[in-house]
Amino acid sequence: MKIHPFEKLFVAISAVLLGLGLVAIGATVFAAGIHLPAPHGRIDPTKLASTVPFDSPGLQQTGPNQYNAVIVAQVWQFTPFPPTTQIEIPAGSTVTFTLSSSDVVHGFMIQNTDVNAMVIPGEITQVTHTFDRPGEYLIICHEYCGIGHDQMFGKVLVA
Ligand code: CUA
Repeated sequence: MKIHPFEKLFVAISAVLLGLGLVAIGATVFAAGIHLPAPHGRIDPTKLASTVPFDSPGLQQTGPNQYNAVIVAQVWQFTPFPPTTQIEIPAGSTVTFTLSSSDVVHGFMIQNTDVNAMVIPGEITQVTHTFDRPGEYLIICHEYCGIGHDQMFGKVLVA
């Protein structure tokens, strides 16, 4: 069977690109430790109000510059920081956000950070971020969740 030189070249280029792709996937997973987000745990969305830690949502200091923020996402607010979520922390603080939804799928994104998560009923979402620079960081729900979706926001104030 005679194979045209161009065809051989295309097969070779395709094989090299496939190999580079596999190496890139391997490097991100094993060397950089980047994984797909997985739920931190499961929870009955109808029993959030009586299940730890969502029975007492809020911001808690757990150490020097260490905080836990437990937040319930529901139409259309992040409880317990109504009317808009406002979290005040000093610069250099590391905050672990633990979230769950009591109704529909919501989003939890903090502008100018790498915090970008889905909040899914039945699942516990956990994200951690260190706020090094002072400023106002807008929190938004970035999953469409109904008529009041655009009013579901808040902020982190870093002083
Ligand atoms: Cu909650 Cu959009």
